[in-house]
Amino acid sequence: MKPLAFPPGEDETSPLKKWLSYVWPLTHHVQSDLSGTLEVSWVNGRKVLDSRNANYSYGSLQTILTYGLAHLDFSAEAPVLLLGLGGGSILRPLREAFRCTGPITAVEVDPVVIDLAHREFQVGDVPDLTIVQADAVAYVTQCTQRFGLVIVDVFVDDQVPPVFYALTFWERLASLLRPGGSVLFNAGLHRRHALRLEALIEGMHPRIQLQRHERVNGTNTLLLGKSVAPTE
Ligand SMILES: C[S@@+](CC[C@H](N)C(=O)[O-])C[C@H]1O[C@@H](n2cnc3c(N)ncnc32)[C@H](O)[C@@H]1O
Repeated sequence: MKPLAFPPGEDETSPLKKWLSYVWPLTHHVQSDLSGTLEVSWVNGRKVLDSRNANYSYGSLQTILTYGLAHLDFSAEAPVLLLGLGGGSILRPLREAFRCTGPITAVEVDPVVIDLAHREFQVGDVPDLTIVQADAVAYVTQCTQRFGLVIVDVFVDDQVPPVFYALTFWERLASLLRPGGSVLFNAGLHRRHALRLEALIEGMHPRIQLQRHERVNGTNTLLLGKSVAPTE
Protein backbone atom coordinates (compact mmCIF):
# COMPACT_ATOMS: atom_id res chain seq x y z
CA MET A 1 0.00 0.00 0.00
CA LYS A 2 1.60 3.31 -1.06
CA PRO A 3 1.62 5.73 1.90
CA LEU A 4 0.03 9.18 1.54
CA ALA A 5 2.31 12.17 2.13
CA PHE A 6 1.55 14.51 5.05
CA PRO A 7 3.19 17.80 6.00
CA PRO A 8 6.02 17.67 8.60
CA GLY A 9 5.60 18.72 12.23
CA GLU A 10 1.82 18.31 12.26
CA ASP A 11 -0.11 18.20 15.50
CA GLU A 12 0.58 14.92 17.33
CA THR A 13 -3.02 14.65 18.45
CA SER A 14 -4.76 15.32 15.11
CA PRO A 15 -7.80 12.99 15.35
CA LEU A 16 -8.35 12.98 11.58
CA LYS A 17 -4.82 11.87 10.90
CA LYS A 18 -4.97 9.14 13.53
CA TRP A 19 -8.22 7.84 12.10
CA LEU A 20 -6.99 7.98 8.50
CA SER A 21 -3.80 6.10 9.40
CA TYR A 22 -5.84 3.00 10.31
CA VAL A 23 -7.04 2.92 6.72
CA TRP A 24 -3.93 4.16 4.94
CA PRO A 25 -0.40 4.92 6.25
CA LEU A 26 0.60 8.63 6.07
CA THR A 27 4.28 9.39 5.54
CA HIS A 28 6.83 12.09 4.95
CA HIS A 29 10.54 11.73 4.21
CA VAL A 30 13.48 13.64 5.64
CA GLN A 31 17.02 13.48 4.27
CA SER A 32 19.99 13.20 6.60
CA ASP A 33 23.67 13.08 5.61
CA LEU A 34 24.37 10.64 8.46
CA SER A 35 21.25 8.47 8.46
CA GLY A 36 20.11 8.57 4.82
CA THR A 37 16.36 8.76 4.20
CA LEU A 38 14.28 8.88 7.38
CA GLU A 39 10.56 8.30 7.31
CA VAL A 40 8.00 9.71 9.76
CA SER A 41 4.71 7.84 9.38
CA TRP A 42 1.33 7.57 10.99
CA VAL A 43 0.48 3.85 11.10
CA ASN A 44 -2.56 2.45 12.90
CA GLY A 45 -3.03 5.59 14.94
CA ARG A 46 0.64 5.93 16.00
CA LYS A 47 3.47 8.05 14.70
CA VAL A 48 6.68 6.07 14.07
CA LEU A 49 10.22 6.86 12.88
CA ASP A 50 11.86 4.50 10.38
CA SER A 51 15.14 4.40 8.49
CA ARG A 52 15.23 2.84 5.04
CA ASN A 53 15.36 -0.74 6.36
CA ALA A 54 14.52 -0.57 10.06
CA ASN A 55 12.14 0.84 12.62
CA TYR A 56 14.04 3.50 14.61
CA SER A 57 11.40 4.51 17.16
CA TYR A 58 7.86 3.96 18.43
CA GLY A 59 7.22 0.66 16.59
CA SER A 60 8.83 -2.73 17.20
CA LEU A 61 11.96 -0.96 18.53
CA GLN A 62 10.00 0.43 21.46
CA THR A 63 8.57 -3.05 22.21
CA ILE A 64 12.09 -4.54 22.13
CA LEU A 65 13.59 -1.96 24.50
CA THR A 66 10.60 -2.23 26.85
CA TYR A 67 11.10 -6.02 26.97
CA GLY A 68 14.76 -5.44 27.91
CA LEU A 69 13.93 -2.98 30.68
CA ALA A 70 11.29 -5.33 32.09
CA HIS A 71 14.01 -8.00 32.44
CA LEU A 72 16.46 -5.71 34.24
CA ASP A 73 16.60 -4.63 37.82
CA PHE A 74 17.67 -0.99 38.22
CA SER A 75 17.30 1.81 40.71
CA ALA A 76 14.48 4.16 39.68
CA GLU A 77 16.26 7.22 41.15
CA ALA A 78 19.66 6.69 39.49
CA PRO A 79 20.79 8.69 36.43
CA VAL A 80 20.15 7.04 33.04
CA LEU A 81 22.37 7.24 29.95
CA LEU A 82 20.71 6.56 26.58
CA LEU A 83 23.13 6.14 23.66
CA GLY A 84 21.07 6.64 20.47
CA LEU A 85 18.09 8.98 20.92
CA GLY A 86 16.24 8.36 17.64
CA GLY A 87 12.71 9.68 18.14
CA GLY A 88 13.06 9.03 21.89
CA SER A 89 10.46 6.27 22.12
CA ILE A 90 11.91 4.71 25.27
CA LEU A 91 11.86 7.99 27.23
CA ARG A 92 8.18 7.98 28.19
CA PRO A 93 8.12 4.27 29.16
CA LEU A 94 11.17 4.99 31.35
CA ARG A 95 9.35 7.82 33.10
CA GLU A 96 5.87 6.27 33.20
CA ALA A 97 5.94 2.44 33.14
CA PHE A 98 9.32 2.06 34.89
CA ARG A 99 8.85 5.13 37.11
CA CYS A 100 12.42 6.39 36.60
CA THR A 101 12.84 9.69 38.38
CA GLY A 102 16.59 10.22 37.86
CA PRO A 103 18.02 12.56 35.22
CA ILE A 104 18.26 11.13 31.69
CA THR A 105 21.12 12.00 29.33
CA ALA A 106 20.50 11.04 25.70
CA VAL A 107 23.41 11.08 23.23
CA GLU A 108 22.64 11.32 19.51
CA VAL A 109 25.09 11.92 16.68
CA ASP A 110 22.64 13.09 14.01
CA PRO A 111 21.32 16.68 14.32
CA VAL A 112 18.52 15.88 11.84
CA VAL A 113 17.31 13.11 14.18
CA ILE A 114 17.46 15.44 17.19
CA ASP A 115 15.38 17.99 15.29
CA LEU A 116 12.80 15.28 14.40
CA ALA A 117 12.72 14.08 18.00
CA HIS A 118 11.74 17.60 19.05
CA ARG A 119 9.41 18.55 16.21
CA GLU A 120 7.61 15.27 15.56
CA PHE A 121 7.88 13.47 18.91
CA GLN A 122 7.95 16.35 21.45
CA VAL A 123 10.89 14.98 23.47
CA GLY A 124 11.25 18.48 24.96
CA ASP A 125 8.22 17.61 27.14
CA VAL A 126 10.09 14.77 28.89
CA PRO A 127 11.16 16.04 32.33
CA ASP A 128 14.83 16.19 33.38
CA LEU A 129 16.15 15.16 29.96
CA THR A 130 19.46 16.44 28.55
CA ILE A 131 20.15 15.78 24.86
CA VAL A 132 23.78 15.85 23.80
CA GLN A 133 24.68 15.96 20.12
CA ALA A 134 27.80 13.78 20.01
CA ASP A 135 29.22 10.51 18.83
CA ALA A 136 28.43 7.94 21.53
CA VAL A 137 31.98 6.54 21.59
CA ALA A 138 33.50 9.99 22.03
CA TYR A 139 30.94 10.78 24.73
CA VAL A 140 31.62 7.58 26.67
CA THR A 141 35.38 8.17 26.39
CA GLN A 142 35.26 11.60 28.02
CA CYS A 143 32.29 11.19 30.41
CA THR A 144 33.04 11.22 34.15
CA GLN A 145 29.47 10.74 35.46
CA ARG A 146 28.20 7.40 36.84
CA PHE A 147 24.85 5.89 35.83
CA GLY A 148 22.47 3.31 37.28
CA LEU A 149 21.25 2.31 33.82
CA VAL A 150 22.90 2.58 30.41
CA ILE A 151 20.96 1.77 27.21
CA VAL A 152 23.08 1.20 24.11
CA ASP A 153 20.73 1.55 21.14
CA VAL A 154 22.96 2.79 18.36
CA PHE A 155 22.09 1.97 14.77
CA VAL A 156 22.83 3.36 11.34
CA ASP A 157 19.85 2.08 9.38
CA ASP A 158 19.65 -1.63 10.35
CA GLN A 159 23.32 -1.98 11.39
CA VAL A 160 25.01 -1.51 14.75
CA PRO A 161 28.38 0.15 13.97
CA PRO A 162 31.13 -2.45 14.73
CA VAL A 163 32.82 -0.27 17.38
CA PHE A 164 29.87 -0.92 19.74
CA TYR A 165 30.76 -4.64 19.86
CA ALA A 166 34.38 -3.90 20.77
CA LEU A 167 35.80 -4.70 24.20
CA THR A 168 37.56 -1.32 24.34
CA PHE A 169 34.17 0.44 24.14
CA TRP A 170 32.69 -1.90 26.77
CA GLU A 171 35.64 -1.49 29.16
CA ARG A 172 35.00 2.24 29.06
CA LEU A 173 31.25 1.76 29.41
CA ALA A 174 31.76 -0.46 32.47
CA SER A 175 33.54 2.38 34.23
CA LEU A 176 30.45 4.60 33.78
CA LEU A 177 28.19 2.14 35.62
CA ARG A 178 27.57 2.43 39.32
CA PRO A 179 28.19 -0.82 41.24
CA GLY A 180 25.03 -2.88 40.67
CA GLY A 181 24.15 -0.68 37.67
CA SER A 182 22.41 -2.24 34.66
CA VAL A 183 23.05 -2.19 30.95
CA LEU A 184 20.84 -2.96 27.97
CA PHE A 185 22.53 -3.46 24.60
CA ASN A 186 20.28 -3.68 21.54
CA ALA A 187 22.75 -5.82 19.59
CA GLY A 188 20.92 -5.90 16.29
CA LEU A 189 19.07 -8.12 13.92
CA HIS A 190 21.80 -10.24 12.41
CA ARG A 191 22.83 -13.70 13.64
CA ARG A 192 26.26 -13.19 12.08
CA HIS A 193 27.25 -11.14 15.16
CA ALA A 194 26.87 -14.20 17.43
CA LEU A 195 30.64 -14.77 17.76
CA ARG A 196 31.32 -11.11 18.56
CA LEU A 197 28.67 -11.22 21.26
CA GLU A 198 30.14 -14.40 22.75
CA ALA A 199 33.56 -12.69 22.90
CA LEU A 200 31.96 -9.66 24.56
CA ILE A 201 30.11 -11.72 27.19
CA GLU A 202 33.33 -13.59 28.03
CA GLY A 203 35.54 -10.52 27.86
CA MET A 204 33.37 -8.50 30.27
CA HIS A 205 32.94 -11.35 32.75
CA PRO A 206 32.97 -11.00 35.76
CA ARG A 207 32.90 -7.18 35.71
CA ILE A 208 29.55 -7.10 33.91
CA GLN A 209 27.48 -10.25 33.80
CA LEU A 210 25.79 -10.19 30.43
CA GLN A 211 22.97 -12.46 29.32
CA ARG A 212 21.85 -12.93 25.76
CA HIS A 213 18.16 -12.78 24.80
CA GLU A 214 17.57 -13.97 21.24
CA ARG A 215 14.87 -13.04 18.75
CA VAL A 216 13.20 -10.51 21.01
CA ASN A 217 9.91 -9.57 19.34
CA GLY A 218 10.93 -12.10 16.66
CA THR A 219 13.97 -10.15 15.45
CA ASN A 220 16.58 -8.58 17.71
CA THR A 221 19.26 -9.87 20.05
CA LEU A 222 19.58 -8.08 23.37
CA LEU A 223 22.40 -8.29 25.89
CA LEU A 224 21.23 -7.50 29.40
CA GLY A 225 23.75 -7.08 32.17
CA LYS A 226 24.60 -5.96 35.63
CA SER A 227 27.80 -4.41 36.86
CA VAL A 228 29.31 -6.39 39.71
CA ALA A 229 30.99 -4.38 42.46
CA PRO A 230 34.74 -5.19 42.71
CA THR A 231 35.59 -7.25 45.79
CA GLU A 232 38.23 -5.85 48.18
C1 LIG B 1 17.21 2.81 16.81
S1 LIG B 1 17.57 4.50 16.91
C2 LIG B 1 17.43 4.84 18.63
C3 LIG B 1 16.00 4.75 19.14
C4 LIG B 1 15.81 5.29 20.54
N1 LIG B 1 16.67 4.65 21.51
C5 LIG B 1 14.38 5.31 21.01
O1 LIG B 1 14.18 5.18 22.23
O2 LIG B 1 13.47 5.49 20.22
C6 LIG B 1 19.33 4.50 16.70
C7 LIG B 1 19.96 5.89 16.77
O3 LIG B 1 21.39 5.78 16.91
C8 LIG B 1 21.93 6.97 16.35
N2 LIG B 1 23.38 6.80 16.14
C9 LIG B 1 24.02 6.11 15.15
N3 LIG B 1 25.35 6.17 15.30
C10 LIG B 1 25.57 6.90 16.43
C11 LIG B 1 26.74 7.28 17.14
N4 LIG B 1 27.97 6.93 16.72
N5 LIG B 1 26.60 8.03 18.27
C12 LIG B 1 25.37 8.40 18.71
N6 LIG B 1 24.21 8.07 18.07
C13 LIG B 1 24.31 7.31 16.96
C14 LIG B 1 21.14 7.11 15.05
O4 LIG B 1 21.27 8.39 14.50
C15 LIG B 1 19.72 6.74 15.52
O5 LIG B 1 19.01 7.89 15.87
